[in-house]
Amino acid sequence: MRAFPPARVGDRIAAVESPALVVDLAAMERNLMRMSGYAASKGLRLRPHAKTHKCAAIARRQIELGAVGVCVQKLDEALALGAFGIDNILITNEIVARSKLERLAQLARNLHLGVAVDSALGVELLAKAMKAQRARIDVYVEVDVGQGRCGVPPEQAGQLARLVSQYKPLRFAGLQAYHGRVQHLRSHEERDATVSDAAQAVQQAKDSVRAEGLEVPLVTGGGTGAFALESESGLWGELQAGSYVFMDRDYADNLPTPHAPQFEHSLFIKSQVISRGADHAVIDAGHKSHALDSGPPRVWMRRLDWRNGGDEHGILTAREGESLPALGDTVWLVPGHCDPTVNLHDHIVAVRGGLQKGAVEAVWTVDARGCLA
Ligand SMILES: Cc1ncc(COP(=O)(O)O)c(C=O)c1O
Repeated sequence: MRAFPPARVGDRIAAVESPALVVDLAAMERNLMRMSGYAASKGLRLRPHAKTHKCAAIARRQIELGAVGVCVQKLDEALALGAFGIDNILITNEIVARSKLERLAQLARNLHLGVAVDSALGVELLAKAMKAQRARIDVYVEVDVGQGRCGVPPEQAGQLARLVSQYKPLRFAGLQAYHGRVQHLRSHEERDATVSDAAQAVQQAKDSVRAEGLEVPLVTGGGTGAFALESESGLWGELQAGSYVFMDRDYADNLPTPHAPQFEHSLFIKSQVISRGADHAVIDAGHKSHALDSGPPRVWMRRLDWRNGGDEHGILTAREGESLPALGDTVWLVPGHCDPTVNLHDHIVAVRGGLQKGAVEAVWTVDARGCLA
């Protein structure tokens, strides 16, 4: 059984049961418009990362606003979103398990899919699986542009692109270049310097593909922290940013990039004070309600500090001059990291009219929750 939805459409916000994942719709829509407006003004394709929200309703809105499709990180996220009518999905990750490649090929018979590769074996297994299902797929050679995660060294991109181009069911669609660490560097100067290095690696990879007599149709990548710098390099043609839709505390701690659009917090945890001590309050939101891998949540609009009280409890203390909330009071948290926070919930409560007086406009299921394969 899935958890009971924490609210019903039409409920006043006060009636939403805690702990609940709540989206402020007006703030989310402003974020969506800012990013799609930015991409359009730069002549770039936008393919937002759906690993952030795992939710077909939000993917649909992104596509309505001009996104070419979405990215996912995992095959089963593509299956889940595809089941709700989302098409043109890029899996920004490598898949080498035979069972998963078979599932991927079956899905590619019905959907327009892309996938990343970074090994000759991966390409061969992918081609075999596609051939068996008579399916076709877009293939992006992933380049390691400095993160030291997946990807071939830039000078080897051409060799792998050539191999891809030799298999009929595979279409060499370009390069994937994503640098995760740069997104979270705090200062503009640090991000600028690291993106410059990444851009050199992309250029080198493009040159190695051209040396094999192939064109590079597209370079796809970029995230919420550095997409403006990646765009300005002139090398990336498609942006994969995801977190901008919600903006977590960690991303808000980045110092801004000049001239880049700014995003607002739109994702919150609604929590309630369930116990009060003389100098602390206990809320019903611990680390089973929100992820702590990027640090603690921020208490929204209050000068209160949150510390972990266990799976189901958060302990609040007040800063100088601030009073503690009373028993039963609502406290709003901005999660430290939005993607793994969403994956902890079955539902997202979408509220119109703000967190104080709004009402529930929709209750979305987190369609790809737990899709880790
Ligand atoms: C390959 C890839 N592209 C895009 C993104 C989206 O980045 P962000 O959530 O920082 O916008 C991620 C996030 O981890 C990613 O791994």
